[in-house]
Amino acid sequence: MSMVITSENSTVERREILNDAQKQRVEELVSKMTLTEKIGQLNQISPSIVGGFEVPFEELVEMVTDGRVSHEEFERIMSSAKQDYHEDMIEAGQVGAVMVSGAALFNRLQKIAVEKSRLGIPLITGFDVIHGFRTAFPIPLAESCSFDEEVFERTGRIEAKEARACGIQWAFSPMLDIARDARWGRISEGAGQDPLLGAVFARARVRGMQGERDAENHIDGEHLAACLKHFAAYGAAESGQDYNTVSMARSLLFNIYLPAFRAGAEAGALTVMAAFNDLNGVPCTVNSFLLRDVLKKQYGFKGFVVSDANAIKECISHGIAEDLKDAAKQAVNAGMDMDMGSGAFSGSLEELVRSGEVKEETLDEAVRRILTVKTALGLFEHPYASEEEAAGYGELPAEHRAAALDSAERSIVLLKNEGDILPLGKDKKIALVGDLADDGENMLGAWSALGRGSESVTILEGMQARSSRVRYADCGGPEKCFDEQKFSACAEGADVIVVCAGELNKHSGEASSRADITLPGEQRKMIEAALGTGKPVVLVLCNGRPLALGWEAGRVPAILETWQLGSEAGNAVAAVLFGEYAPSGRLSVTIPSVTGQCPRYYNHPSTGRPGSRSKFTSRYLDAPVEALYPFGFGLSYTSFAYSDFEMSEEGDTLTASVTVGNTGKTAGEETVQLYMRDCVASIVRPVKELKAFAKVRLEPGESRKVTLRLRKADMGFYDDVMDYHLEDGTFEFYVGGDSENCLKVTREVFFRQ
Ligand code: GLC
Repeated sequence: MSMVITSENSTVERREILNDAQKQRVEELVSKMTLTEKIGQLNQISPSIVGGFEVPFEELVEMVTDGRVSHEEFERIMSSAKQDYHEDMIEAGQVGAVMVSGAALFNRLQKIAVEKSRLGIPLITGFDVIHGFRTAFPIPLAESCSFDEEVFERTGRIEAKEARACGIQWAFSPMLDIARDARWGRISEGAGQDPLLGAVFARARVRGMQGERDAENHIDGEHLAACLKHFAAYGAAESGQDYNTVSMARSLLFNIYLPAFRAGAEAGALTVMAAFNDLNGVPCTVNSFLLRDVLKKQYGFKGFVVSDANAIKECISHGIAEDLKDAAKQAVNAGMDMDMGSGAFSGSLEELVRSGEVKEETLDEAVRRILTVKTALGLFEHPYASEEEAAGYGELPAEHRAAALDSAERSIVLLKNEGDILPLGKDKKIALVGDLADDGENMLGAWSALGRGSESVTILEGMQARSSRVRYADCGGPEKCFDEQKFSACAEGADVIVVCAGELNKHSGEASSRADITLPGEQRKMIEAALGTGKPVVLVLCNGRPLALGWEAGRVPAILETWQLGSEAGNAVAAVLFGEYAPSGRLSVTIPSVTGQCPRYYNHPSTGRPGSRSKFTSRYLDAPVEALYPFGFGLSYTSFAYSDFEMSEEGDTLTASVTVGNTGKTAGEETVQLYMRDCVASIVRPVKELKAFAKVRLEPGESRKVTLRLRKADMGFYDDVMDYHLEDGTFEFYVGGDSENCLKVTREVFFRQ
């Protein structure tokens, strides 16, 4: 029989963040606080940069983002600029959180809060630590292609250690936005398009970042508070246009866009950041259904919710608030605990409480949550950062570089390898062309924190460290015209041409959506010139989002998707090109042929007219509906065969077993994927849903039986009122090395009451 688990019955019981003694101390502190001091805890400020620039600070930030000013140059300018850190407000107890990096600076502000303010409540400082801090790891979109939970956790652990040492106790990550539209620039920051992979990424990152509690029930000095963002469904911005409106059925929200956040909450994440966008007409910042009903009640979240930057004030632009006071009222009553940078809370809450429009108990609840996180971080006992430790990050620690290299190698996806051009022999004379091959800065990707391009190993460096037969020409790039002469001089006499093409950092990340996601600039001319030589051509892509690759895929025999791999990019790419590391990455997103196919994703409903053969089916006249390269896809330097696929059932668990064999000549790592389809249900269900995956390394000729388990409880779906349905019926199960080429087994499944 079918089962419906109502939303009340599926509430997540969250482990308490504090023990009773710690809770008692928080209550005592709240009871002593004045209204001004309570509002102060809800206020996060950034330093105001004053004077000293030829250009306004916002423009300077833009110049850094688009690479016109290097990170090093920015740090030099900032070190000389006068900044107002609002010390007076901190001393008056009107600030609860800041956004600074640097142990000495943080300690200076912390000293004011702890030693000069009336109650000595410590500050917390937050920073965008998204994929590394001093050591730059691959962008999360790249790392998600490793399908490797240990890699996700290790990156979280290392970035936390580096950031905490430099005075940061709170990282605005992991970014968990499911993204199906490659036009959206922020697809680079998340774990792709699948809810299960997103949930695995969320749990692992939170574990890595927050670690376990120490004897005092504190997060220790090498870990920090995570922040699940952006809550919620920011990745579904209409047309892939950043900050755009989002409308969707609640069932789609619960089944696709929220599972990663639920997993992060279950893993004990201490904070959540609300998203800029409106959801079904109500901005997330003032959306009590999301913040109170789903996050705090249903998911049992006991940490605090912070707005995104200036987002409370932006509710005026959304047309949902009359003015800043109205926005502040709606936000705090909807469950927003902290205001990032808009000044709405600090400017209006006192009046709102006095007038009764906001209850003081509502503020007390927000203060309690914020003090809970500060207590969990041990900030009352250990408020200061170690400046000696921070100084230690002048250089990137070797073991951090090693971890970045391992992550980068595992993030690379081999899309095409006609004629087994790859791996390249060291005896080959190689012409390496394309400016990105010698560009450390644009290996960092968006949100690279304190990563430095000068510390990145470039692709040119990585290749020349392995072969003396590599010649290079900077004959074209994302924003540089193609130089035919430079190209020809380099290609002359070469055995193989490696074209490095892609995007700059600025082409993805926040406020960086693109309406045409083909290779920018004249890079195709560089590819055409390479193809025109008649020599073997390898295309190495360095980009922050899936590109529309139909043109390239139809012409270039070998294509390596390397994304933006960070500090060790060049070593990872060269290791794969020369066969030191056999590519094992699998796509966590779908790669389209043309931009017009976006959004494109594997777990789509069938529609009433599936298939695209005949005219009257769900198709285009001028483009395929099939993915160019589907979710889960990636080649190795060997090949794998699947056989003997069986599904068995015992109690509440189904087990998939399949034999996977390495049918090639070299060792390789396969990601075995299990999908299912609920063939008939009370709402349409996707044609495939990823339900489990496992990585297996096989020597040439080796076969192994792989088993994947699936709890029946995980086979259901949510309806529009967040009730969870497990419905008896026919299910199709698929297993394979990607979401399309699979073996299939069909069986009836019944769910006991
Ligand atoms: C930005 C981003 C968010 C980031 C925050 C602080 O606008 O949306 O991801 O954490 O502001 O920099």
